[in-house]
Amino acid sequence: MIRLATSNLDIAYDDRLIVQNLNIAIPQGKITALVGSNGSGKSTILKTMARLMHPSAGSVLLDGRSIHKQSTKEVAKQLAILPQNPTAPDGLTVAELVSYGRFPYQKGFGSLTKEDRGIIQWAIEATGMGEFTDRPVDQLSGGQRQRAWIAMALAQETDILFLDEPTTFLDMAHQLEVLHLLQKLNEMNNRTVVMVVHDLNHASRYAHHMVAIKKGTVVGEGTPAEVMTPDILREVFNIEADIVPDPRTGVPLCLPHALAGEPAADKALADSRPERILTAAGA
Ligand SMILES: Nc1ncnc2c1ncn2[C@@H]1O[C@H](COP(=O)(O)OP(=O)(O)O)[C@@H](O)[C@H]1O
Ligand SMILES: [Mg+2]
Repeated sequence: MIRLATSNLDIAYDDRLIVQNLNIAIPQGKITALVGSNGSGKSTILKTMARLMHPSAGSVLLDGRSIHKQSTKEVAKQLAILPQNPTAPDGLTVAELVSYGRFPYQKGFGSLTKEDRGIIQWAIEATGMGEFTDRPVDQLSGGQRQRAWIAMALAQETDILFLDEPTTFLDMAHQLEVLHLLQKLNEMNNRTVVMVVHDLNHASRYAHHMVAIKKGTVVGEGTPAEVMTPDILREVFNIEADIVPDPRTGVPLCLPHALAGEPAADKALADSRPERILTAAGA
């Protein structure tokens, strides 16, 4: 079932069109992974789907209605986003950060209700942040900080969660911890998760659906088995890769072994050999 989709979406920064005529559908109650090389437009797409950016044409439809025609609070009750590299004000504690997640439910300048407090507590516990409740966010380790932000998104109690590179900069154990938490939220609370991830094998293991983006357009979309093919990986990432089944689950895993075509560095290095430079200078 589809609740969220983009329809002929164009997105630009000033006059520079980054995304053109994008049509993607996000399967309800599933984990979707957005993959693509640096600068391909993943964050731009995620921000627009979460209503942080306005498209220059087309629309983002949630239950058939454009999210850009709805109020911030209305949309924030349905979808939450963890941006890439979020920053919290100095000294803000974990509990304070997570309480921001209740903003869409507050009336006027109303303070937190008993229900709000209960949900904040739940979000802090669910992300394993209980012992850090009163610690300033800027004094946490990368993994703890990431979980604090996820807790804030959880406190928003939305059916749909967007996460932009939630595992980048984390060590392997903390990466798995975040992915496991997202998997549990998906399985137990039926949340729809849309995440940008760089590790293709994480995408394959944790996502039901993958969307491969190149220069703001969709190059591959479907199950990991449909998207993790040598042809698509060559086109999207400019790599040659072997695809092998995960010995535990059979999902496709990617073993990159070379760049497709001549790597730019090889040519640059060859061109800059001293004798070449001397010859070029007419010496
Ligand atoms: N605030 C901005 N202003 C102007 N250009 C931007 C801005 N943010 C991103 N871009 C450009 O948009 C393109 C896509 O960026 P982004 O969506 O961040 O890619 P990704 O998340 O896939 O790495 C890049 O060319 C980037 O330089
Ligand atoms: Mg990005």
